[in-house]
Amino acid sequence: MPTFVVKTFGCQFNELYSASVIEMLERAGYEQSRTLDRVSLVVINTCAVREKAQEKAFSFLGEAATAVDASRIIFMGCSATLDQERAKRIAGHEVHIIPGSAGIEEVLARVQAIAACAPAEPMVPHSLFPTADIELVRGCESYCTYCIVPRARGRESAADAEVVLRQAKDSIQHGFRELLLLGQNINRYHWSGGGLIELLSALDRLDGEFWFWFLSPHPAYFQRAEVQRLMQLEHVEHHVHLPLQSGSDGILKRMNRRYSMADYDALAGAVRSDSRWTLTTDIIVGFPGETDEDFEATVAAVRRHQFDGVFLAKYSDRPGTPASAMPDKVPQKTIDERHSVLLQVVRDLSLQSNAAMVGGSVDVLVLTAGASGDTFGKSRDGRNVWFEDQGRLSHPVGSFVRVDINHGSREGLYGICST
Ligand code: 5AD
Ligand code: SF4
Repeated sequence: MPTFVVKTFGCQFNELYSASVIEMLERAGYEQSRTLDRVSLVVINTCAVREKAQEKAFSFLGEAATAVDASRIIFMGCSATLDQERAKRIAGHEVHIIPGSAGIEEVLARVQAIAACAPAEPMVPHSLFPTADIELVRGCESYCTYCIVPRARGRESAADAEVVLRQAKDSIQHGFRELLLLGQNINRYHWSGGGLIELLSALDRLDGEFWFWFLSPHPAYFQRAEVQRLMQLEHVEHHVHLPLQSGSDGILKRMNRRYSMADYDALAGAVRSDSRWTLTTDIIVGFPGETDEDFEATVAAVRRHQFDGVFLAKYSDRPGTPASAMPDKVPQKTIDERHSVLLQVVRDLSLQSNAAMVGGSVDVLVLTAGASGDTFGKSRDGRNVWFEDQGRLSHPVGSFVRVDINHGSREGLYGICST
């Protein structure tokens, strides 16, 4: 039986595309292999958002090239758009390159041709049970000055609303319990019925027991009234991930984020008006020109909003982006220092947020059921939850349960199932 390895770096989009590739290869009779040894096909799905992620992808490509012939390797995703020559230098000219601008249909068709497998029907991109990922907006044209995504993924396009609603309906009927809608800047979604919020309202009217969530909204394209409408929906999860990036108006401007701290505060305030909702964010420290005052403004904003979770990144210079050509680069040592100061604040906030849940109970969607009795899931407000299942797997993946919380750590909540 032919075998394959799929190695995925980066974001939820890559996870979705990889899951679809895996599904297709398995349906075509391929078997997933744990090692590169004598494998028939290696698919490397790459990221380029930070230098580290890109280097990891090229390093794995090097590893794959020593184990198998280049003609058996597919190098896809953002690094595959940006540095094809390097990929060929590392693996040889025979390596197959699928750029990050290729949509899922093109990716599946190319992989199918390379793997010489029969077309699989229907080719609906699905993801890991119980979560069905659905792509709403492909590409990005927001041009934040630090970001490589617009170059790596290309022009923006919105999925057909009818197709999205059908995919959502099918997924729920197949037993999927969470719909995860994706777009680099998902607020750019538009269709004949309006924008994102109208589509979410239409999804909300579908029958069945399910939650939905979406990634990532962009503060500049999100209205306070839309957040309020979102919070009224029946099936929506109670958390918003709203990337702030910096708490300094000057830096936000240089980042081309198109919102001020006051705009952000208004949106965040809407989310915070309901204490059941959580708010998480992305922050970059060390953007070119970031002064001590700018950094302090970011720390102050993080404290003010008491984020329940923060994805904290050190600024990574991406050749070809406008920020890369900016003067006043922050020295690496300062970036490292600021990162560790803010990391401490962020960690304390996560702990505080989770500790405050102790003594209460939360609704949880079971994501993995461990035979050892440890079951893992996601609370409706987006937290990790681990609970005891008495080793009987009485709560299978995809069930909704209620968990009484007796402990909270930085990583999540721990408790006992009460349903
Ligand atoms: N350096 C550091 N972080 C970055 N991100 C995007 N580009 C860069 C970069 N050049 C972060 C942003 C974004 C997240 C997905 O990755 O915070 O929201
Ligand atoms: Fe990059 Fe900004 Fe687009 Fe997000 S919205 S993918 S940070 S350019």
